[in-house]
Amino acid sequence: MRNKEAIGVFDSGVGGTSIWKEIIRMLPNEDTIYLADIANAPYGEKSPEHIIDLSIKNTQRLISLNCKLIVVACNTATTNAIDFLRNNYDIPFIGIEPAIKPAALASKSKSIGILATKGTLSSSLFHRTSELYASELNVIEVVGKGLVELIEADKIESTEMYKLLEDYLQPMINQNIDYLVLGCSHYPYLIPVLRKILPQDVTIIDSGQAVALQTKNILTKNNLLNTRELLGNHILYSNANIEVLQKLTDTEKEINKEVAFLDF
Ligand code: DGL
Repeated sequence: MRNKEAIGVFDSGVGGTSIWKEIIRMLPNEDTIYLADIANAPYGEKSPEHIIDLSIKNTQRLISLNCKLIVVACNTATTNAIDFLRNNYDIPFIGIEPAIKPAALASKSKSIGILATKGTLSSSLFHRTSELYASELNVIEVVGKGLVELIEADKIESTEMYKLLEDYLQPMINQNIDYLVLGCSHYPYLIPVLRKILPQDVTIIDSGQAVALQTKNILTKNNLLNTRELLGNHILYSNANIEVLQKLTDTEKEINKEVAFLDF
């Protein structure tokens, strides 16, 4: 039965685990297979063609592992490759995009900040969404160059990280933002640091819960929900080192989890 198969999730690295955590909390009976393409991280500075090629590689591997649905837990891959993937593979895809719409609707200062990769901010999908929901607002877009590399290197609380974030957030603070949109699935891991730099009244939003809810809705609609009562099994593969992947997912207690190397 197809509904017993796993949900596939991929990202350029460890960041998509911020989305994966929301998914396994909302759907605890589902099995999942996570691919961290650490050997090719970061995606953010790569060309759209290269990002599409890497997304195809990850998709084919998850399909070969019999996944029933694929979550592209990477804004950069979603905004550059999801149309291609949906047009070429007969499996449901869930993507993640910066949450501009809720931020734009809720903003009182009419000024919002978006921190994302160059690949996301320069994509036509991002431009279309921004135009649609935020054309009346002051939107300060900042490329988070170097942030993904530091997260992958387990340097979240480092001096380099503080320095970079202070530089990236200052123009946003100067322009009185009241919402900061995290447009990269790695960035929720920066929230403790961001909170120390941002004024208290700035709300930080990411798309993790919305993606988990959408995953549940699409599984339900396609009759693919796993209806068993046992807890799911989770395997997380990296094609490079596994240490940071292990550490960031160790926060999830009492789940059946394995972290392993896989050449993909
Ligand atoms: N985590 C990814 C994203 O959401 C990609 C970051 C990167 O590899 O540059 O955009």
